[in-house]
Amino acid sequence: NCSLNTTTNHLRHVESMAVLPSGAGKIPRLNAVILGEALASEEDDLVFPSDDFARQALLPSAQKYLEMYKRSVEDPAGFWSDIASQFLWKSKWGDTVCSENFDIRNGNVYVQWFKGGITNICYNCLDRNVDSGNGDKIAFHWEGNERGFHDSLTYTQLLSQVCQVANYLRDIGVKKGDAVVIYLPMLMELPIAMLACARIGAVHSVVFAGFSADSLAQRIMDCKPKVVLTCNAVKRGSKVIHLKDIVDAALSESAKNGISVDACLTYENRSAMMRETTKWQDGRDIWWQDVVPTYSTICEVEWVDAEDPLFLLYTSGSTGKPKGVLHTTGGYMVYTATTFKYAFDYKPSDIYWCTADCGWITGHSYVTYGPLLNGATVVIYEGAPNYPDPGRCWDIVDKFKVTIFYTAPTLVRSLMRDGDAYVTRYSRKSLRVLGSVGEPINPSAWRWFFNVVGDSRCPISDTWWQTETGGFMIAPLPGAWPQKPGSATFPFFGVQPVIVDEKGVEIEGECSGYLCVKSSWPGTFRTLYGDHERYETTYFKPFPGYYFSGDGCSRDKDGYYWLTGRVDDVINVSGHRIGTAEVESALVSHPQCAEAAVVGVEHEVKGQGIYAFVTLVDGIPYSEELRRNLITTVRNQIGPFAAPDRIHWAPGLPKTRSGKIMRRILRKIASRQLDELGDTSTLADPGVVDQLIALADC
Ligand code: WT7
Repeated sequence: NCSLNTTTNHLRHVESMAVLPSGAGKIPRLNAVILGEALASEEDDLVFPSDDFARQALLPSAQKYLEMYKRSVEDPAGFWSDIASQFLWKSKWGDTVCSENFDIRNGNVYVQWFKGGITNICYNCLDRNVDSGNGDKIAFHWEGNERGFHDSLTYTQLLSQVCQVANYLRDIGVKKGDAVVIYLPMLMELPIAMLACARIGAVHSVVFAGFSADSLAQRIMDCKPKVVLTCNAVKRGSKVIHLKDIVDAALSESAKNGISVDACLTYENRSAMMRETTKWQDGRDIWWQDVVPTYSTICEVEWVDAEDPLFLLYTSGSTGKPKGVLHTTGGYMVYTATTFKYAFDYKPSDIYWCTADCGWITGHSYVTYGPLLNGATVVIYEGAPNYPDPGRCWDIVDKFKVTIFYTAPTLVRSLMRDGDAYVTRYSRKSLRVLGSVGEPINPSAWRWFFNVVGDSRCPISDTWWQTETGGFMIAPLPGAWPQKPGSATFPFFGVQPVIVDEKGVEIEGECSGYLCVKSSWPGTFRTLYGDHERYETTYFKPFPGYYFSGDGCSRDKDGYYWLTGRVDDVINVSGHRIGTAEVESALVSHPQCAEAAVVGVEHEVKGQGIYAFVTLVDGIPYSEELRRNLITTVRNQIGPFAAPDRIHWAPGLPKTRSGKIMRRILRKIASRQLDELGDTSTLADPGVVDQLIALADC
């Protein structure tokens, strides 16, 4: 099976590479594999796909990848329009496949793909699969929080259910271009709601059902939906969460600010709560089960332009206000479908499970759109991955015979801590490809995932991408080349990563710096909703000529990319992106908090933990109760996932004379690297540092 560095694999790869033309310009360097001698020193780091895997792979060799990659960057229009032609278009795009300005120095940034092409992504996900004879194939297997609760829908059944919701939305006056907010847990109704919006050209804005009422209200006020789709409650692990109460609070908050919604369609989630005990506002609230089934299961699609908006998804930036990332229809469709297919080596017989929630981009692109566009069977799991015990994931894998399992490093690390026995008691023999997303995966977690979960048989697709990129940007194509544990490997077709120094100058070869991307790819986001200026300032001004990802990155001598984490004021907690400014503004909203500064610190399971320095209002004493209240304030304002792991009392914060907080110093104090504080002489009051150190363990 898949063995580390067997000689035969080694030779096969070297042979396949050696025929490549040298000096291929910006084409990825796979030097280790091209130059046989480089392998000797690198040997321990390379993990080869087995011959069996490579033989059946969609992309069986690095050479094939390089041929396709070369075409994708030299002739992006030809490359992507060939792929796009496999979808259903009511009418084809015009002569220009892509038109863009990615260089802020040349004027406003814009991106368009397949402009003038008329299509519908819901049609391509559902009707196209039903029409091609796959109507009876399972689209979704749903597994409830409690063992024994499960359900499934074929493509035909899913289409009918989507049509009913779409007809309801249309009936209450939702039109093309209108926003619809969806606040649902991982029930099948969540992707059903998304697809129903897409069917009628409405713009969905899914808010992760772990966000607080305040965060939900903020998003409702920004995009002003006609309707909110939710459910009364959900069970996660052993806890019942009353989602409808959160929605009620958010709706009354936004109504106070002049934004009210016409309707709140509420799914009765009987496994968590009955309707009798659910709080209700007559005239606004409607039970999903009372109305949706009364609508026709046939719904004409709204044909839209490739550049019409598909969805908004709010994400964190380095300032307090979340950014409404806007994706359009055509390019996103082509890109998510293609990345899904190649990065997971997808075959029609696969059973695919992604543990992400549809409230994040991963659930948009790789629970819903990417897989359904490929006609895949998708597993959706409602509950917590370690409930009732840390073996649950493998129980689900065996139950549905999952072949592709895609998750986040934080879950891998936490399951690794719980011990191998929970894994090995299940067969897992159906698995053939594993995936990782959300943050860099450390080599030890990578190896455990590979050796223990995948029985040293399954390649791991470590996919680097972002809410903004719509789909995978740097990711292994399993079967095409050897992997290095912890490296996301090489760029996907059409993606031109560039590493720049602090002056924005591109660095070649082996280097590290800031990760940027040159020119657009079909899944590029088009703007930040209602704030194109912020779009340009955040992403295109830092390094003119490029899209700036916000990530640090290095490239090794073999051309492999290694992501090193955010370089801006964004922290990554269990793969959830949180702006330090958001947490700070929640903390200072507490009446006894005068000032706060938040930094990320290394965390064994979560990747990064949230570490908050808090200065209290004069005269307020430190207390455990206040510490708890501050944490509760953040939970209530953002959501439980943003709760600080540590509150460090700070009589003062280290600031420059111009008043800027020196986070570099705070990061060192937080990680207790006290001998690496660096130069503190430029601080307005260097004494602050000693005070902070003295309070470190209080
Ligand atoms: C940030 C984007 C994209 C889906 C989930 C998160 C980090 C994501 C990886 C990876 C290293 C990664 C980056 C990125 N990140 N995947 N495979 N290796 N870092 O989406 O919330 O938009 O966060 O997550 O720092 O910028 P997101």
